[in-house]
Order: sequence, then structure tokens, then C-alpha cells
Amino acid sequence: MAERVCPWWMGYFLLTPIRKLFENPRKILSPFVKKGMNVLEPGCGMGFFTLEAARLAGPGGGVYAVDLQQKMISALERRVRRAKLTDVVAARVCPADTLGVSDLDGSIDIALAFCLVHEVPDAGRFFGEVRRALRPGGRCLVIEPVDHVSEEDFEATLETARGVGFSVAAGPYVRRNHTAVLESG
Ligand SMILES: C[S@@+](CC[C@H](N)C(=O)[O-])C[C@H]1O[C@@H](n2cnc3c(N)ncnc32)[C@H](O)[C@@H]1O
Repeated sequence: MAERVCPWWMGYFLLTPIRKLFENPRKILSPFVKKGMNVLEPGCGMGFFTLEAARLAGPGGGVYAVDLQQKMISALERRVRRAKLTDVVAARVCPADTLGVSDLDGSIDIALAFCLVHEVPDAGRFFGEVRRALRPGGRCLVIEPVDHVSEEDFEATLETARGVGFSVAAGPYVRRNHTAVLESG
């Protein structure tokens, strides 16, 4: 596993309720995720955002949660069962070099890439896969932490996204984070 990948045990810290004070999942997601939508969440971790995305999208919608690490997915699945959201969330493990979501091509309304892109080995490939998964007019909300990602690096990330055909619009304000909305057109 690449050195920059968040270790699995950090997944528990990422679930801390204190995080909601500055990254409130409902507040961040509710303008983007609506009832009946299909949501793709690569790098979901243990699901700090996943459960709220599922409450907003379901019933009738779906959240496809994908992560490199089995331990993240196992913890997410336990939380999904406890929250009685198993009808809405489908979780899967992927290898580092692909999200393995070609079965979803053209079906996703919104993709959520939160605190992830700086960890993927090839951002161009990653954005290409996300773009293929989106339906026409679908969007991808990207959020990257300022503690790990400089302004310059975030700009380079957006340039990579443009390179696979996304247009870039301003994202919502999220304290201590860079944000952008990628539009598939
Ligand atoms: C910093 S954590 C963020 C988790 C979650 N998005 C959140 O904000 O709480 C990054 C997650 O991305 C996953 N990840 C890293 N590289 C990945 C890749 N190439 N494909 C899929 N998931 C990846 C890690 O295993 C980890 O769970």
C-alpha cells in the first residue's frame, strides 16, 4: 500500500463527532444529494459521509461506497447495518490502481471525493473513471484538506480533472478545506 494512504486505524479518528463542528455531513451534502440519486463515494473510509449520503438519497437511491482497505469497508458495513441503511448502501473494496466501477458507467448522479485525491496514485486515471461513472450532467464534489494539500497542488488536481473533460466550478465553503465541483457536461 502506498505510504500516503491513510492507515486503517485512522478511520476511527475520522468518525469523531467533533469533526461535525467543521465538516458537517448533512450541511455539506444536502445541496448536492437528493432523494432517489445514485451516489458514488470513492475513498469512503469508515463512512463519516456515507451514512448521511444514504439518508439523503434513499429510499429509491443508492450509495456505492468504494475503498482500498478491507478494514475500512468492514467497519462501514457494520455502521450501515446498525443504521438500517443496508437497502441503500453497497460497499466494495477496490485495488489501488482502479475503482473497479465500470459496471456503474453512466449511472451516477454525484460522486463524492472527500479527503482522497491526494492519496490516489494516478489522479488522471481516477478522474477518468469517475467521469465515466457519471450520467450526462453528473457532478463530482471534491474536498481536500488544507493541512495536506497546498493551494498549488489543489490547482494541479483541478487541472488534471479538466484534462479528462470536467469543467470546474466553485465548491461550497468548508472550513480548512479546498473544495470544487466538477461538472461532466
Ligand atoms: C483520509 S481517508 C478519508 C475517508 C473519508 N472520505 C472521510 O473523509 O472520512 C482516505 C480514504 O481513501 C482510501 N483510499 C486511498 N487511496 C485509495 C484508492 N486509490 N482507491 C480507493 N480508496 C482509496 C483510504 O483507504 C481511506 O479510507
